[in-house]
Amino acid sequence: MKILLIAGARPNFMKIAPIIRRLKAQGAGHDGKELNWKIVHAGQHYDYEMSKIFLEELEIPESDYYLAAGSGSHAEQTAKVMVEFEKVCVEEKPDLVIVVGDVNSTLACSITAKKLNVKVAHIEAGLRSGDMTMPEEINRIVTDSIADYLFVTEKSGVDNLLKEGRPKEKIHFVGNVMIDNLFYQFEKLSKENCTSLAANEIKSKLKKYAFLTLHRPSNVDKEETFLGISEALKEISEELPIIFSVHPRTKKMIEAFGIQLHHNIHLLEPLGFRESLFLWKDAVMVMTDSGGLQEETTALGVPCLTIRENTERPVTVEIGTNILAGNKKKDILKGYREIMRNGKKGKIPPLWDGKAAERIMDTLISLPLPISA
Ligand code: UD1
Repeated sequence: MKILLIAGARPNFMKIAPIIRRLKAQGAGHDGKELNWKIVHAGQHYDYEMSKIFLEELEIPESDYYLAAGSGSHAEQTAKVMVEFEKVCVEEKPDLVIVVGDVNSTLACSITAKKLNVKVAHIEAGLRSGDMTMPEEINRIVTDSIADYLFVTEKSGVDNLLKEGRPKEKIHFVGNVMIDNLFYQFEKLSKENCTSLAANEIKSKLKKYAFLTLHRPSNVDKEETFLGISEALKEISEELPIIFSVHPRTKKMIEAFGIQLHHNIHLLEPLGFRESLFLWKDAVMVMTDSGGLQEETTALGVPCLTIRENTERPVTVEIGTNILAGNKKKDILKGYREIMRNGKKGKIPPLWDGKAAERIMDTLISLPLPISA
């Protein structure tokens, strides 16, 4: 079986790392059939701190193909990946393309593969925010509507796919590869002397702090919204210092809107996985609009204040440590006070046990060959 594994942007790297570890451990498929896999990096993220640092830290081997998608409008970025990926598929003739998450490369590679009659497996299928203004929601819906194997992280994903009429036999509730990666890296980090990490200086100086990430267009691209968020952050930081790992999109918008952040908000460049984990695992709370961090905080029991109006990961709110605050100043402050007063205790969702990649590969290698349509 020949597999192409796609990674396009920062959050994809955390999801392919456990699959690669499993593929390496697997050697061959069932009945000793050859298992042949290659990595395609779409190049949607390209800066060292948005891409290469993750590949190094997460033990992801050199990509076999780099599509150099770069930045641009959604149409430009998606189209570039499609054109370049089509050439790879024609050359490689894969049996299966594995896509993860919900970024533009996920959508682009799914469509390209399906039009060449190549089977597609989507890892993290079924998540829905119900918000069609979010580019990721469109990517999720389209990818799930054509994928052949739908690997789901939480029960809501199964319900959503069934509601959309996807056949039951295509849906596999396997748990969360993001959490496989988290547990693996957490254990590695806990065995290390972390004093050499760059983030150690600010962490030991502040002791108590909130950890912040912010990059959704719905939060940072509109001046009024971003100003409201920054006012809430200013009030919070007067009580609890904030460490803010700033995404390139957010950095541009801070400059464009001339936003002055309070001096208790400590700005850092985008952090690699380890520096970031080292900071947020011991934070009083995480404040974020990231999808992955909502899940990771639940898995480690750290309270999370999600600065968004909706979440496609409801399990983190229902049984995890996540509070969905919204993105208005008063709502963010209300959520913050709620966590400071009562915390947010949670449980680890079903099958978030570090073995999702194993379940996914067990399912895939048991497929009868050839699996091309
Ligand atoms: C993308 C994903 C989003 C994911 C996020 C994580 C889509 C639709 N969006 O959004 O789901 O949560 O990645 O980061 O796929 N830039 C750099 N260096 C880079 C990459 C980007 O400076 O390596 C700049 C670009 O010039 C652009 C901005 O950052 O102006 C945003 O990048 P873009 O890829 O458009 O989207 P993200 O907001 O990163």
